[in-house]
Amino acid sequence: MRALTVIPGSPGSAAVRDVPDPVPGPGDLLVDGLAVGVCGTDREIAAGEYGWAPPGQEHLVIGHESLGRVQEAPQGSGLAPGDLVVGVVRRPDPVPCGACAHGAFDMCRNGRYTERGIKELPGYAGERWCVEADYAVRLDPALADVGVLLEPTSVVAKAWQQIELIGGRSWFEPRTVLVTGAGPIGLLAALLGVQRGLEVHVLDRVTDGVKPGLVRDLGATYHSNGFDDAVAAGRPDVVVEATGAAPLVMAAMGATSPYGLTCLTGVSPRGRRIEWDAGGLNRSMVLENDAVFGSVNANLDHYRAAADALAGADRDWLDRLLTRRVPLASATDALRPDPDGVKTVITLET
Ligand code: BGC
Repeated sequence: MRALTVIPGSPGSAAVRDVPDPVPGPGDLLVDGLAVGVCGTDREIAAGEYGWAPPGQEHLVIGHESLGRVQEAPQGSGLAPGDLVVGVVRRPDPVPCGACAHGAFDMCRNGRYTERGIKELPGYAGERWCVEADYAVRLDPALADVGVLLEPTSVVAKAWQQIELIGGRSWFEPRTVLVTGAGPIGLLAALLGVQRGLEVHVLDRVTDGVKPGLVRDLGATYHSNGFDDAVAAGRPDVVVEATGAAPLVMAAMGATSPYGLTCLTGVSPRGRRIEWDAGGLNRSMVLENDAVFGSVNANLDHYRAAADALAGADRDWLDRLLTRRVPLASATDALRPDPDGVKTVITLET
């Protein structure tokens, strides 16, 4: 079968190649791939800056934002041929650490977790793939066209759960949220903010293209005149930072109202140095009881919460996030950034 592979650490090595057909082990589903989403992590892997092949192998099949249809399911798995499924990205570390031992593999403490399509496990950008039934999430058939958004939605479902848990350390009734960045993570974070009844503001740089309309159609407010302008529009109780851009990350931490919460979701490159008033930032965080935290990945509970969030969203709005569809044969094109679009998807159906 064909799959999109890279040689980790080797920029420009991404290629669609013939790879051996996956063979389901006991407890595994055999799945026909329908689509995979492409995100910044995939582009980093393709640029040779991230990613690890399975031990002893040169190539890594990439793709961690999956969607497929079950072809074969083991007896008693609760899944059946024809079911629409998404494969979970992360697997617990083998030790396991305390978090992984409790199903919180998204919070792995020793870094020895593995990830499909990213770290030591083959990904989902192939015509067929296997997945343990316990790490497959069934989706409502009505989500067939947009189900590839489940993984990025699971990432923001976790971020929102963490916001609520951390906010819950004292009285917490947030009213406004500012999301920085109108990419897939930012827009999905905005969606989940609207679903929580919050006043949602979204900041991005672009003034045209699909992003302003997508934000407005959520009932949220779009800002493109810079961070200060967006903050002035309503000092946010919560900021979800989804760009990873160093100046925005720093600004986000100091911009909340008292008892503010800043959730960092963007993975930035290392080595960017900027000048900042660290004392001023510390002072406002201490005097306002602010909290800043990072959030990555998602566990099975977050995937389930994400499936509910997608089921409750407007299907056409979700579909408009999928701005570019590229067939597997030209999948390397999908790895090029698309600054005006939102989510690029590689279609896998043959
Ligand atoms: C994925 C996460 C993953 C992270 C780091 C992200 O793009 O969505 O599931 O944990 O990359 O590898």
